Amino acid sequence: MISRAETDAMKKALKLALRGRGSTFPNPMVGAVILDRDGNQAGDGFHRECGAPHAEVIAIASAGDAASGGTMVVTLEPCCHHGRTGPCTDAIISARIKRVVIAMTDPDPRVSGEGIKQLKSAGIEVETGLLPEKAYELNRVYLHYIETGRSWVTLKIALSLDGRTAAADGSSRWISCERSRRRVQRMRASVGAVLTGAGTVRADDPELTVRLPDSRPWRQPVRMVVSATGDFGESRKIFRSPGRVIIAVPEGVGARLTECKDLPGVEVWEFPPDSPNPGISLASFLERTAAEGLGEILCEAGSDLSTRLLRDELVDSVSIFTAPMILGSEGRPAFEFLGIDSIDKAIRLENISSRRSGSDFLTEGCIVYRAD
Ligand SMILES: NC(=O)c1ccc[n+]([C@@H]2O[C@H](COP(=O)([O-])OP(=O)(O)OC[C@H]3O[C@@H](n4cnc5c(N)ncnc54)[C@H](OP(=O)(O)O)[C@@H]3O)[C@@H](O)[C@H]2O)c1
Repeated sequence: MISRAETDAMKKALKLALRGRGSTFPNPMVGAVILDRDGNQAGDGFHRECGAPHAEVIAIASAGDAASGGTMVVTLEPCCHHGRTGPCTDAIISARIKRVVIAMTDPDPRVSGEGIKQLKSAGIEVETGLLPEKAYELNRVYLHYIETGRSWVTLKIALSLDGRTAAADGSSRWISCERSRRRVQRMRASVGAVLTGAGTVRADDPELTVRLPDSRPWRQPVRMVVSATGDFGESRKIFRSPGRVIIAVPEGVGARLTECKDLPGVEVWEFPPDSPNPGISLASFLERTAAEGLGEILCEAGSDLSTRLLRDELVDSVSIFTAPMILGSEGRPAFEFLGIDSIDKAIRLENISSRRSGSDFLTEGCIVYRAD
């Protein structure tokens, strides 16, 4: 039986967990709240970054003696293995916590129910499944990684009302309004990396950095460009502005990048060609980005790369800004050929949200790929 105080504590733990967004990967985001014997909140914590103490340990420390005989409310099953830090189950048992309420079990094969088992065998009462859908949503990037070994990709596109992403001459600045562009800057600050294609580098010469008017020290994402040819002009702004930049090209193409590969922060990753397709395997690229700790990627590309990602079923969610303008069929479409010849083959979204963003509309959702 879950109490009102435990539900409130779980809501708080979920909120706290979000504060680790962008820094915990490949670990999950986790929040924990301790209730004392009388059900009052006595301590809390969240996992700030990979390698840092876990939420449970911080919450126990912040509750002090009040943890003994109390309840821990935590967004994910506590770990029971030695990683960069000790097992949280040991910390919970030593703190003499009486009851643990968990939102969802941890699918990591090193935990996967074993954490709960250990707590129970130490005589601790365990309740699982409080607000699990919120916990799944919170950790969608982590869960996706455990399942696929790849980074989560969000495709961000600014569209005209008639679904065009650029005018006939390739110009696309500024389709979306100023408010939407500020929102995109904040989206960049919350992900591990921003990705674009060489076509956008050639057409727009973007920096893809976070530039917001307030004085907060916004986190700059890693910036990444994929190219099959290496032919995008090496003096582009993206390579000249400070920060880590990754250029992903097929084997042999890196040697041609004589100018920018020695610039500070610039790395060239080479992959075997993805023949018969031009360029590299985007799935292999996203496995490498995940292995490098880049859990969430915001893709801001033109139709070529967006289509390739979608065709390879590598787009996980979309953020689409629709602006009140019309560009006609001479404008550039958002996507190229996808082989959808009937409405029942449409790629659809789930968990959709739609809201105003200045004069634009922002639609967000997760992609559902058809099973066949
Ligand atoms: N409205 C918006 O939201 C928005 C956002 C971004 C861009 N745009 C507009 O989109 C237009 C550019 O579109 P685009 O389709 O030409 O550019 P793009 O999709 O950004 O880039 C295409 C290029 O990416 C590289 N690429 C794609 N898949 C690859 C793979 N698997 N392996 C290696 N490289 C790969 C290729 O580079 P190589 O050519 O080097 O082989 C390809 O030509 C511009 O007009 C820009 O303004 C609009």
